Amino acid sequence: MADINTAILHLSEKGFLDMNIDPELDLFAEIEKLKKEKNAIILAHYYQEPDIQDVADFIGDSLGLAQKAEKTNADMIVFAGVHFMAETAKILNPGKKVLLPDLKAGCSLSDSAPPALFKAFKDKYPGHIVITYINCSAGMKALSDIICTSSNAQRIVEGLPADQRIIFAPDKNLGAYINKQTGRNMVLWNGACMVHEIFSLEKLTRLKIRHPKAKVIAHPECEEPILALADYIGSTTGLLNYTKKDPANEFIVVTETGILHQMQKLNPGKTFIPAPPNNSCACNDCPHMKLNTLEKLYLCLKYELPEITMDEELRLAAKKPIDKMLELSAQYGL
Ligand code: 13P
Ligand code: SF4
Repeated sequence: MADINTAILHLSEKGFLDMNIDPELDLFAEIEKLKKEKNAIILAHYYQEPDIQDVADFIGDSLGLAQKAEKTNADMIVFAGVHFMAETAKILNPGKKVLLPDLKAGCSLSDSAPPALFKAFKDKYPGHIVITYINCSAGMKALSDIICTSSNAQRIVEGLPADQRIIFAPDKNLGAYINKQTGRNMVLWNGACMVHEIFSLEKLTRLKIRHPKAKVIAHPECEEPILALADYIGSTTGLLNYTKKDPANEFIVVTETGILHQMQKLNPGKTFIPAPPNNSCACNDCPHMKLNTLEKLYLCLKYELPEITMDEELRLAAKKPIDKMLELSAQYGL
């Protein structure tokens, strides 16, 4: 069994503390104990595995998590999500320890926008302001004017003067959806989420025929032909709230499957059918989000590693557009 010193030695190559854990240990109880001892908070995205959601102090979508990270009094934040989310929490909390159970939990959408390439793209469009989806690196945030999430992107765009020219990055599907909703013509960066791009239109069409009473609910990171079949389009929290409010008893859920855990918990009498991807799998998991496990989270909280660190100049530059988003979200009651 690797001891802590060996695990630390291999941390940068592995991305997490690779140690065996006694299978008899009650991880749920241990995590609760450590949280109290260290005044730590666990923030989890809805795409995390059910066990992680069950030990989290707060579960949310990207906006909810950023808002919670900004307000927390905890000394330590364990971010059960992907790297850009933990990085955002660090940008907002330079004095707190921010931990991510697996440093390799990245994001294909964030990776689709390298800052150096984006800078060259941005320079081709003088007079445009840059609205960037929170799913991006700190370097991309530093090149942006306003950060947005899928919860507030449309409202933020609507709040800008009609003649304001805009670059929207990195998600072309969300950007195209907002262009359609608002009648704008934002310049779009050509990035996408690997999870939301692989839903199968054919399989979804067949599912709809087999479940004619089911409502189709979809995340705006999906491609346009999929969104065209949806009864409701919204962020992860938006989708969850819709399942509570809408009287339908059956929903076809076109987003990452992690959200089904809360949907089922909040609506025990309703049925949720995950929309299938364009491959042989029945469900659609984000391989990055699912790198975090309860075991890695326990070790991360116990040994306070891996930790997110950041250059202060970059942090300050990346904070400005995040602050703008939080200020606008509060103004719009989001
Ligand atoms: P939201 O959390 O804004 O719904 O975005 C989903 C997502 O893909 C997060 O990585
Ligand atoms: Fe990134 Fe998509 Fe995974 Fe979200 S679901 S973390 S956008 S790859």
